[in-house]
Amino acid sequence: MLKVDNLITNFDTDDGQLRAVDGISISVAPGQFVGIVGESGSGKSVTAHSIMGLLPKTARCSGSVKWNGNELLGGTEAQWRHIRGKEIGLIFQNAQAALNPVFTIGSQMIETILLHHGGTKGDAANRAIELLRQVNLTDPEARMSQYPHECSLGMCQRIMIAITLAMEPRLLIADEPTASLDVTVQAQIMRLIKGLQTQYGMGVLMISHDLGLVAQTCDRVCIMYLGKIVEEGTPEQLFRTPKHPYTQALIAAIPSADPSAKNESIPLKGEVPSPFHLPKGCRFSTRCPMVMDQCKQHEPELEEWAQGRRVACLLDR
Ligand SMILES: Nc1ncnc2c1ncn2[C@@H]1O[C@H](COP(=O)(O)OP(=O)(O)OP(=O)(O)O)[C@@H](O)[C@H]1O
Ligand SMILES: [Mg+2]
Repeated sequence: MLKVDNLITNFDTDDGQLRAVDGISISVAPGQFVGIVGESGSGKSVTAHSIMGLLPKTARCSGSVKWNGNELLGGTEAQWRHIRGKEIGLIFQNAQAALNPVFTIGSQMIETILLHHGGTKGDAANRAIELLRQVNLTDPEARMSQYPHECSLGMCQRIMIAITLAMEPRLLIADEPTASLDVTVQAQIMRLIKGLQTQYGMGVLMISHDLGLVAQTCDRVCIMYLGKIVEEGTPEQLFRTPKHPYTQALIAAIPSADPSAKNESIPLKGEVPSPFHLPKGCRFSTRCPMVMDQCKQHEPELEEWAQGRRVACLLDR
């Protein structure tokens, strides 16, 4: 079980300190499928990397990241290595870059399996082929002797998933596992992760900028804006009664399955403010179609609005 409490991640940069994650709390229970959704730059990847202890030296974290009750923040590299892969697996945003270009798919998989499970090379090769088949790769035997550059983006993403699953993690953090893939492959990979989650009972933390995609598979969704969670609930709750104007805008931006349907809602206007110059009060106030005077003065807290629902907005108070 993952429990993140009031996580803050700052970077020292040449232009001063940048707060990429600003006090987020999130938990994932075994077998639970949780999504984090937000636009580019909202701090999704930094959140994932903070949880995994994979930040550069310029980063500073505070708050708490607990894995089965044990605090991970401030741990040693050896402690992290024990958790990474085996306990918590991470699928990176760019799988092709995460695969080693000089080794074949087979040797990378066999190495991972031997490292985590031991056994003979032959057994590991059989397991690798079985995993490649599970992620729906055609002709997995032939794939084993191929190099990452010989595989398409969609294939690399599946291979990455297979390698991650070879470690049988109890929690999978998937950072935009389907970005840059076409819609059909996206849906296949989401179904695949969902299937494996059910089969292995693992928890999943799915990161995406695509609310429509995430809503189909997640039990809970956290909407992130400029380093903060602004709303949280089940997909049904968010779609039926979105409380935060940002959530409403994200829902309105989802293309309708029916092309003749007219979208009357106001689209998201304006640029995301620079994290170096956050607006006073609510950080969404510069783009909010429902902004009030008080929003420019007070930053709303993320408060429990109903059972399992959290919202950070001054409207309806
Ligand atoms: N190593 C770093 N040094 C300084 N700032 C960073 C670093 N990594 C990320 N940031 C900044 O932190 C903020 C959050 O970045 P992050 O990569 O988490 O966004 P994201 O939500 O994953 O976006 P995307 O959808 O584009 O992947 C951004 O303003 C980004 O510029
Ligand atoms: Mg990212």
